[in-house]
This record gives sequence, structure tokens and C-alpha cells, in this order.
Amino acid sequence: MLEIQNLDLKYGQSQILFDVSVSAKMGEITTLMGNNGVGKTSFLKAVAGRHPSSSGTIAIDGAGLGRATAFDAARCGIAYVPQGREVFPMMSVRENLETGFACLPKSEHVIPEEVFMLFPVLKDMQTRRGGDLSGGQQQQLAIARALITRPKVLLLDEPTEGIQPNVIQQIGDALVTLRDRGDMAILLVEQNADFAYRLADRIFVMERGRIKDTLVKSDISKDALLELLSL
Ligand SMILES: Nc1ncnc2c1ncn2[C@@H]1O[C@H](COP(=O)(O)OP(=O)(O)OP(=O)(O)O)[C@@H](O)[C@H]1O
Ligand SMILES: [Mg+2]
Repeated sequence: MLEIQNLDLKYGQSQILFDVSVSAKMGEITTLMGNNGVGKTSFLKAVAGRHPSSSGTIAIDGAGLGRATAFDAARCGIAYVPQGREVFPMMSVRENLETGFACLPKSEHVIPEEVFMLFPVLKDMQTRRGGDLSGGQQQQLAIARALITRPKVLLLDEPTEGIQPNVIQQIGDALVTLRDRGDMAILLVEQNADFAYRLADRIFVMERGRIKDTLVKSDISKDALLELLSL
């Protein structure tokens, strides 16, 4: 289980996150929702070791990460799919996947077959340049690259942003498959309420850098959630 407690985050003098506590269980999809600019990406960056928090703790299965760098976080089992995908445009699909090897010992430098089972389109496109893929294919590549490390925790930042509906469906199906395997905690930041509601087991709502509500999906209808988010 991933557990973040009392996290504060600042950019310079400006505080963005206030006392944020979020947990995500193995075998569940936990969603973090909230309007533009409330701090969702900043939160994921802190968990992924991409930006230091000014206070608070991050732990996996009770083991604290301390002031982990992105490399440390990856080695501890945290994989991060950034907003905007960050696919390397001049590198091939295969080379993009292989960048995931960086924090693995040489003996584990193998692309798991599961990656191509989840995203078959990538198997046929391994020599294609990342920048030549469609937005939806790039998103699938970004998720596949995150899975190369066989993570315990998968963080995804708005994976449906700007993606066509049939690929959104495929991404949703892949996340359900990973969830049902039971050995991964998935923390999904989303503004697409249909997608988030379909997948969520648990929902955290963020407002201006604070957690406003923590919900179990079965306790709230989609309409009530939309009202809460005022989307
Ligand atoms: N590197 C940075 N330096 C200074 N301020 C930043 C930086 N990154 C983000 N911010 C500010 O922090 C606040 C939260 O931004 P963040 O990107 O975390 O929000 P978000 O909820 O992910 O928004 P969106 O829905 O648009 O992706 C915003 O006011 C933003 O302008
Ligand atoms: Mg964001």
C-alpha cells in the first residue's frame, strides 16, 4: 500500500499543497480529482521524487521513502506516467521502452511480454519513432514504459487528456487488467469524470491544494460526484 501523510509542497515561497494525506491500496484504482491548477500534478511529482515536499511522509508497505529522488522512487517501485506523456520523439518505440531499464539491474533488462499483451499496437511499432505515433499511441507507450520496472505503484497523470475515445477505452481496459492482478496500487489523476468514475474504487477530491473529500465509489453516484467537482 502507498501511504502519503500530511504532505506540504512549495514552489519557492508559494505553498501549493497543504497537509495532503492520500492512500492507495494494492489491487485498487484510487483516483485523485479536482479542477485545473488545484495541485494534482504537483502532488504526483512529489510522490515520484520529481519535486521535494517541504513536509510529510511517503511510504510503501510501511517503509518510508525519505527524501527520495526520482531514481530512488523508481527503485522503490514507484512508476510515473507524466501529464503530456513525455515520450522521446526521436527515439524508437523500443528505445523509449528501454529507458525504463535505467533503474534495473542488467539481468532484468527485458521488456516483459505483458506490456505487448496490454498494448498490442506497440509490438508492431517497435521501430517507429515515438514522435511519429498518434497521441493515443504515445499515451500507451508512456504507460508501457512505466510498466517496464514491474512497479508496485503506478501513478498516472491525466492519461485521457486529448485522446480519442477508442484509445481511452483500451487504456481503461489495461488499467482494469493491472488492477485485477492484485499486486499493484494504481493512483490515477483525472478530470475525465466518466473515465475516472468507471475505474475508481476510491476517490480523493482536491480543492486548492487540500483534500476536500475522500469517497468510496459505492457511496456516491456519478451525478453526485460531478456536482461535488462542479464540472
Ligand atoms: N514549476 C512550478 N513553479 C511554480 N509554480 C508552479 C509550478 N508548477 C505548477 N505551479 C503552480 O502550482 C499550482 C498547481 O499546479 P499543478 O500543475 O500541480 O495543478 P494541476 O491540478 O495538475 O492542474 P491541471 O489540471 O491544469 O493539470 C498552479 O497554480 C501552478 O501554476
Ligand atoms: Mg496537472
